[in-house]
Amino acid sequence: MPQIPEKIHELTVGQLSARSGAAPSALHFYETKGLISSRRTTGNQRRYSRDTLRRVAFVRAAQRVGIPLATIRDALAELPEGRTPNHDDWARLSQAWRSELDERIRQLGRLRDHLTDCIGCGCLSLETCVLSNPDDVFGERMSGSRLLAERRRAPK
Ligand code: FES
Repeated sequence: MPQIPEKIHELTVGQLSARSGAAPSALHFYETKGLISSRRTTGNQRRYSRDTLRRVAFVRAAQRVGIPLATIRDALAELPEGRTPNHDDWARLSQAWRSELDERIRQLGRLRDHLTDCIGCGCLSLETCVLSNPDDVFGERMSGSRLLAERRRAPK
């Protein structure tokens, strides 16, 4: 990653992209979602304050572990006066997100286990497929295409 001299206090979108590793389109997207902000030059070009680098790093780190952008935005909005998250902020927020991540990991483990039963099935039935209908009560009691198999075995 290219270093940006300390004396530069504002970054172009290209500099921010090169330094943060986020594509310019992603930076624009973050801006439309209120995660970062810029000022416009007289030539209508975006300029980002240097601390935007840390905000982008924060957003990308949170995204990597599956935190939704809306949750990230809410967390950033809670910081006083739109402050850029510091070490303590990240430690506090990542601790708060831990239980949410644990729940997601549990759900993903369940989906992974059921995927084994779905491989080769392809029905994606709302009645029988746990992946298609994860809140189905049968998903807690049975896996994969058991109902379908039981129906096929049932006398007609
Ligand atoms: S594809 Fe999931 S049970 Fe058939």
